[in-house]
Amino acid sequence: MKIAIIGTGYVGLPTGAGLAELGNEVVCVDKISEKIERLNNGELTLYEDGLEELFRKNVREGRLRFTLDMGSAVRGADVVMIAVGTPPHPQTKEADLQYIYAAAEELAGYLDGYTVVATKSTVPVGTGDEVEAIIKKRNPAADVDVISLPEFLREGFAIHDFFNPDRIVIGANSEKAKGVMLKLYAPFEGKTHFLAVNRKSSETIKYASNAFLAMKIHYINEMADFCEKSGADINEVAQGLGLDSRIGRKFLCPGPGYGGSCFPKDTNAMAQMGIKYGTHLKLIETTIAENDARKKKMAQRVVNAVDKTAKIAVWGLAFKGGTDDVRESPALQIVEEMANYSSNITVYDPKAVDNAKKILGSSVSYANDAYQAAENADILVILTEWDDFKKADLAKLKSKMRLHQIMDLRNILNEAEAKALGFAYSCVGK
Ligand code: UDX
Repeated sequence: MKIAIIGTGYVGLPTGAGLAELGNEVVCVDKISEKIERLNNGELTLYEDGLEELFRKNVREGRLRFTLDMGSAVRGADVVMIAVGTPPHPQTKEADLQYIYAAAEELAGYLDGYTVVATKSTVPVGTGDEVEAIIKKRNPAADVDVISLPEFLREGFAIHDFFNPDRIVIGANSEKAKGVMLKLYAPFEGKTHFLAVNRKSSETIKYASNAFLAMKIHYINEMADFCEKSGADINEVAQGLGLDSRIGRKFLCPGPGYGGSCFPKDTNAMAQMGIKYGTHLKLIETTIAENDARKKKMAQRVVNAVDKTAKIAVWGLAFKGGTDDVRESPALQIVEEMANYSSNITVYDPKAVDNAKKILGSSVSYANDAYQAAENADILVILTEWDDFKKADLAKLKSKMRLHQIMDLRNILNEAEAKALGFAYSCVGK
């Protein structure tokens, strides 16, 4: 099939590369000329595990192209996917839909022949109706169906998730559009669940899923606080909880709070939608407030553990392991908060230093590797769950540090090993 994808971010690029790999002819459009130039020069504009290989292969084999020209991408396309950003509005925290509406307005002028316009971006309930109205107004003759096709790709695992989806949700009010989607995703038949629902249900499923996962993380963090007071061990508690198949093992890792470009934005947008429809979503509202407060508490925990002049080494700046993304990163927010108390912080992250520098500037020092960050440090604080950190050579780490104190806010190190080596080791939930 011929697919146009509008937006070359963390959703658009992996989706484009994945659909090209399935044999489709994919054209990705973006407004930012620098991005398109770099992509056309064979350079990826974001880091995503496994993307580079797919990108190169499909560009080489002619199934994946990049352009600034919306018309050339949309004309003749069977499916146009909108994958532009829906950032939170700075004041209202509602999803800002200006990029979605602008894309709808622009693409409408180029529709020819029957086309399915699918919204991949996470959009409030009812946005499909708006997109449809914009397209019909701009191009009354267009033969088009507007559907919701939510993405469930995790950053860092987007390619894995694309090829191994838990479910494919198709929010279509038209049988014809549903048929086109079933054809596009036919390679997944028998491998996943297909769920065809009405457009508003589909839009809600995306928010309800992310809000639920955010609440699950908040719940385990709250239990971790409880364990710290009660003498239980959150790692053991999480194991016991997760073995109940109704609860499930995933998303029960305690930490400094959730972050990223999705959970904070989507929980806020969902809470705003609740207010709009007059049905307060109190669980979600509490999750948001507690998750925000948690980062300050964690920063306080670190600064309380050391003298004002102590050197604080930080491992991890990305909002989670496996990505260079620092948007709404708890790690970054904790470092920013600690920097209010300390001018002696050295940070390291395997991938996110460049992005973090844009925000932290000269308020901290930057190390080239994990052990360099720890040189002469009085405390090491672990803020992101990178695999590299899990495999750290603790004896080498000890030889670098001045005082041997570790605050593992992701519970990723082997506590027994750290303690046996003489580290004063603390984590969350114990
Ligand atoms: C999320 C959803 O998982 C994905 O389905 C959606 O479509 C996009 O948003 P992503 O933002 O990439 O994906 O990250 P995710 O892996 O879900 O983690 C979000 C945050 O929660 C991170 O800060 C992570 O460190 C934190 N987290 C996750 C925990 O603190 N504990 C956990 O057990 C799991």
